[in-house]
Amino acid sequence: MARKIRDSWGSRFGVIMAVAGSAVGLGNFLRFPVQAVRNGGGAFMIPYFVALLLVGIPLMWVEWSIGRYGGGFGHSSAPGVFHSLAEKNRFIKYFGVIGIFGPLVIMIYYTYIESWTLAYSVFAITGRYAAVTTQEGMQSFLRGYQGLERNQFFSSMVPAYSFFLVTFAVNMAVLAHGIKGGIEKFCKVAMPTLLIFGVILMVRVLFLGTPDALKPDWNIVNGLGYLWNPDFSALKSARVWLAATGQVFFTLSVGLGVILTYASYLKKGDDVALSGLTAVSMNETAEVIIGGSMIIPAAFVFFGPLAISTIADSGAFNLGFVTMPMILSRMPFPNISGFLWFSLLFLAGVTSSVSMAQPAIAFLEDEFNISRSKAVAIFGTVTFTLCNAAIFFLGRGVVDELDFWGGTFCLVLFAAVEVILFGWVFGINKAWEEVHHGADMRIPRVYKYIIKYVTPGFLIAVLFFWFFQKDGWLSVIRMDHVAVADRPYVMATRIGLSLIFIALAVMVKLAWKKRKKGVSA
Ligand code: ALA
Repeated sequence: MARKIRDSWGSRFGVIMAVAGSAVGLGNFLRFPVQAVRNGGGAFMIPYFVALLLVGIPLMWVEWSIGRYGGGFGHSSAPGVFHSLAEKNRFIKYFGVIGIFGPLVIMIYYTYIESWTLAYSVFAITGRYAAVTTQEGMQSFLRGYQGLERNQFFSSMVPAYSFFLVTFAVNMAVLAHGIKGGIEKFCKVAMPTLLIFGVILMVRVLFLGTPDALKPDWNIVNGLGYLWNPDFSALKSARVWLAATGQVFFTLSVGLGVILTYASYLKKGDDVALSGLTAVSMNETAEVIIGGSMIIPAAFVFFGPLAISTIADSGAFNLGFVTMPMILSRMPFPNISGFLWFSLLFLAGVTSSVSMAQPAIAFLEDEFNISRSKAVAIFGTVTFTLCNAAIFFLGRGVVDELDFWGGTFCLVLFAAVEVILFGWVFGINKAWEEVHHGADMRIPRVYKYIIKYVTPGFLIAVLFFWFFQKDGWLSVIRMDHVAVADRPYVMATRIGLSLIFIALAVMVKLAWKKRKKGVSA
């Protein structure tokens, strides 16, 4: 069978928007504030920036480079990309399975949360929750929507399921149009739009001043200080380091396998050094400047420093879906502000979730030589079925379990594999040359050593701590933190995930067997 012509990016602006789109997501506006608040505000930011410099930025360059390299051999997903970096090693392609598995697992719950943002933008503009004025009321609205309780707001899951169907269809429509015609086109419009919405909201929050004259300390300057006043004592806390490193991974979309997939559609002479750094800068602007200037300072101003920790601790989604709508409802034009906030989240979500789907779709296209529409149809059917577990068992610990394996453990493991593969197996001298091939900037030489020693050392240390700390792998395996009633659901999720992983590994085996036959025929 003849091989298809590979899809490619249309412009440099387009690829940067797509990579930044993958990075800028719910993690920037929802996960980041929760992590920052839970880990002590200013205490979080030093480890965060250290992890960004020592792990985040180097991994971004590594993924752009290995992706472009593997793309030159017709591979756009991690098994093939890894194989092209170390052809003599028969096993390395199986490590690449993590780069399809991880994003697929995240996609299962991410698209569902994304659909809440679509629903809430409609609720905001139509004033559906305008009459709800208390935290408890908004909480009950959210729980009713999620199907966790039946109440005066929602009597069934029909609204949640309908918005999920629309969200899923939007994702599939973008994906079906391919790299240039779908993902690039969408991100070129969605990214500037969401940044404009973000800036409007940020400016609004920054002009809040001191809304309550009786509480002069609850002002915007102190709200910003909550995040920006450094606390050096936190450098001694392993927990804060882990949380900060995890956030850097999640927010940049590195260690997932998605950036290397996007980079595989570059041409050999395209720059990766400056483009990678530009994508990081855009993401950090969205996360730290825009994301950091919204929920936390606004919550500080309206609820005070003690209350925001309680809110963040009470649930991962409370800051975004309970506190933020309440804050916006106290400002002028609450319906429009609410609409801007939730549509910003929706656009950020879709530009990320399509990137999580692309590795699996590319794997089907490249390694089984099937058409894009067929690959999207197969992927869509499988993922849609799996998403139902996240929808109907949300309150049973299933989403937390998916987030742990897909959004935390696999990221660190995959990142460690790819950076060792690039810096040690491929070889740091060749790797350094590869990063600079066609580059529009010289990367400071110290990064050659960081990529070879510091980044892998950092990642191995994180894995090591996880294995040996009290709250580490044994506690996860034993489900210490899972309610007894939820354990069967979590166990079923684990079995399901193991089956998916095995199925992907078997597919890799079959693909290479077919390839070998093709070569010898
Ligand atoms: N990088 C994406 C986010 O922040 C996954 O949501």
